[in-house]
Amino acid sequence: MLNHDTTSGPTAVTHGTEQLRELIATELIAARSRTAALTDCVEEPDLTAQHSPLMSPLVWDLAHIGNQEELWLLRNVGGRDPLHPEIDPLYDAFEHPRAERPSLPLLAPHEARAYAHDVRGRVLDLLAASPLEGAPLLDGGFAFGMIAQHEQQHDETMLATHQLRKGAAVLTAPAPPPAPADTAALPAEVLIPAGPFTMGTDTEPWALDNERPAHEVELAAFLLDTTPVDNAAYLRFMADGGYRDERWWNPEGWEHRNRAGLVAPLFWSRDGGQWLRRRFGVTEPVPLDEPVLHVSWYEADAYARWAGRRLPTEAEWEKAARHDPATGRSRRYPWGDAAPAPEHANLDQRHLRPAPVGSYPQGASPAGVRQLMGDVWEWTASDFRPYPGFTAWPYKEYSDVFFGPEYKVLRGGSFAVAPVACRGTFRNWDYPIRRQIFSGFRTARDPERD
Ligand code: AVJ
Ligand code: FE
Repeated sequence: MLNHDTTSGPTAVTHGTEQLRELIATELIAARSRTAALTDCVEEPDLTAQHSPLMSPLVWDLAHIGNQEELWLLRNVGGRDPLHPEIDPLYDAFEHPRAERPSLPLLAPHEARAYAHDVRGRVLDLLAASPLEGAPLLDGGFAFGMIAQHEQQHDETMLATHQLRKGAAVLTAPAPPPAPADTAALPAEVLIPAGPFTMGTDTEPWALDNERPAHEVELAAFLLDTTPVDNAAYLRFMADGGYRDERWWNPEGWEHRNRAGLVAPLFWSRDGGQWLRRRFGVTEPVPLDEPVLHVSWYEADAYARWAGRRLPTEAEWEKAARHDPATGRSRRYPWGDAAPAPEHANLDQRHLRPAPVGSYPQGASPAGVRQLMGDVWEWTASDFRPYPGFTAWPYKEYSDVFFGPEYKVLRGGSFAVAPVACRGTFRNWDYPIRRQIFSGFRTARDPERD
């Protein structure tokens, strides 16, 4: 059955062209309304300022969104001439590192908005006339889906910029639902038995190149935390001197911890005996039952070692999230193949914070693992590497240039991720020192041998 109001892209089920057009238009419009919300909420100086050397000015993201849309849809798919070729180099992420972007002659906010709007109008005309098949970029509406995901990815980045921004909160959202009654009775961990599973995908129409191809992976049995690690547990690690004990840290992590003076997650501060944290301009006591957020891979790795555990590998994470032991199939999401709905996962910037651990029982995996999708990105033990048989497509700069041991993989998506850019196969990556992203983690261990 087709679900018209889904916002997670097409399924492998064949859609009629008209339905696919509608779905693409819905996704593009959803992305743009999020972009507008994230850029209309502040005055000009906050759009053009650089709020952190890690981030672009918001106005750069805005024009870059339009420029990528022009490049991939109007020029590559539509065969149109460039609208403003002179601005291309300004918005090429590889020409100018983020720290340099504020000193470029960027479009002013009103120009960036007008440019993105102009491109979008032409794209909707192109979409109306496109057969959505007959070329690899068009099949299944791939290039349109890629661009909707690209905009939503930058919308998550812009939300992270707002979190870094000093100044009053301009973004508000309702609180997530309280943790369900069974939370206290949940087992701390679940066993995922040994055996093969299918990792990656050949059938997800809008999967990006690094999620392909599908391949079989054989894994030993492992135990995985039922929920992400919460602030209460993380505070025990801190209170036990976890940040001061070299035993728990990987050598580069220890060096980084010393150089950066890490003592707590990003945005935390101490007030007498109490830890506070700032979120979108509001400072409040750290909520104990929320997944820990804004930790680096090094902190996650140190916590896991302190707890006598380890981070799951990326393959372990994906098996826990997708493998259905009843059928042997890998599913799109932990709960099955249905598009994410509000009862499954905390996604889409709906709540602007993670939900308490144990939430979303309807989003649990077959083994009972909760919150694999949404809430917080989960660091895995794995370096970002291509799958066997990987081909860069449609451009090397999406994934290929990032493969290697410098980047660690994160899985599952955060509360800031849109459903269109979230699925069981989706791979994110970042440097192990980074923590301005919406990152948390859960831990794993090997079963005891007897
Ligand atoms: C997949 C989140 C690592 O933001 O660098 C945006 C996404 N790629 N524009 C990033 C992306 C090109 C990418 N991440
Ligand atoms: Fe980009």
